[in-house]
Amino acid sequence: MIERIKQKAEQYYPEIQAIRHHIHAHPELSFQEQQTAAFISGKLGEWGIEHTTGIAGTGIVGLIKGKNPGSRCVALRADMDALPIQEANDVPYRSQNDGVMHACGHDVHSTCLLGAARILNDLRDEWEGTVKLIFQPGEEKHPGGASLMIAAGVLENPKPDAIFGLHVYPHLPTGTTGFRAGQYMASADEIYITIEGRGGHAALPHQTVDPIAIAAQVITGLQQVISRKGNPLIPSVLTFGKIAGGFATNVIPDSVELLGTFRTMDETWRYEAHKWIKDFTEQTCAAYGAKAIVDIPVGYPSLFNDPALTTKAEAWAREYMGADNVRTLDRRMAGEDFSFYTHHVPGCFFRIGTNTDDKEFLAPVHNAHFNINEESLKVGVGMMAWMAVNAMVASE
Ligand code: NI
Repeated sequence: MIERIKQKAEQYYPEIQAIRHHIHAHPELSFQEQQTAAFISGKLGEWGIEHTTGIAGTGIVGLIKGKNPGSRCVALRADMDALPIQEANDVPYRSQNDGVMHACGHDVHSTCLLGAARILNDLRDEWEGTVKLIFQPGEEKHPGGASLMIAAGVLENPKPDAIFGLHVYPHLPTGTTGFRAGQYMASADEIYITIEGRGGHAALPHQTVDPIAIAAQVITGLQQVISRKGNPLIPSVLTFGKIAGGFATNVIPDSVELLGTFRTMDETWRYEAHKWIKDFTEQTCAAYGAKAIVDIPVGYPSLFNDPALTTKAEAWAREYMGADNVRTLDRRMAGEDFSFYTHHVPGCFFRIGTNTDDKEFLAPVHNAHFNINEESLKVGVGMMAWMAVNAMVASE
């Protein structure tokens, strides 16, 4: 089976590359992926793969049935959205939509899932079970397309026994993959704080409630709260990315706004930390006679790769890629909405290397120069198909 999959990934490569160029040239922002979804639906239709469109807006779910389709179901997921970035690459397939770019490789993910679907469909008399294809909108934007797809029922009828997703990784060379069992990526929650004081003349602070001085206390104090209240064995990051308030050297403003993000890898500590952040901020502000308004909208949960599934997946990857080409990943404090699926179904989110010999294609994701060595498309397509085939026959 390995050789059949590799041979087909090679055979379909020109078409796979053309699909990636098309999607890359026509990027669409989160929850606006109409053209992308229509294009993907067109390809699935062309290959005779049954699918439903319009799920959670632009999402698509396809089913490929092998022999004995009720025996087991494996889901494969791709995201379709692009970012509000002006592409800086001068390539023939560069973005034709001003200010919008596939800078996180979601064009690659959609392409790899289409390629894998085509191969699995060709070989459907040779495997048992059902493959569920999930093309989701809005990975980059709150509340995350994955959460809406789950609410729309994509993990039911049939319920997958396992789910796989992949992501491009410019820190590894093309021809390699990376795995991490257990906690892999962080939860990501936004923090919005408004400190309401009372403005006045900078020379008469005793007649004001200075929200800027209080904001400084809040920022430094919260770092201590996170480092003293959080278990040091659980990674946590609190970053304020924006502070806004004031007008001039000699004016104390009425209010200050702080915008930040809190990330961690433990769901219990995550919600405890929210409470600490809220209580500490409110009480510190109260101590100085100010009022705090704290809003922490819940974002993506942490991404947990099922240890049993991921250990098996690494072994399958070594068979497909060669042992030297399967790497162990470090944990990452970035967020990823694939995490929503991993809290319902045993999941494995892995990486495919996309640079060339650690020399070219090194620009990070979310950068205007991000691009991939397209040979990595063959790896992504083949690996998704190979993971599905193995996970369908895998016993518990
Ligand atoms: Ni991404």
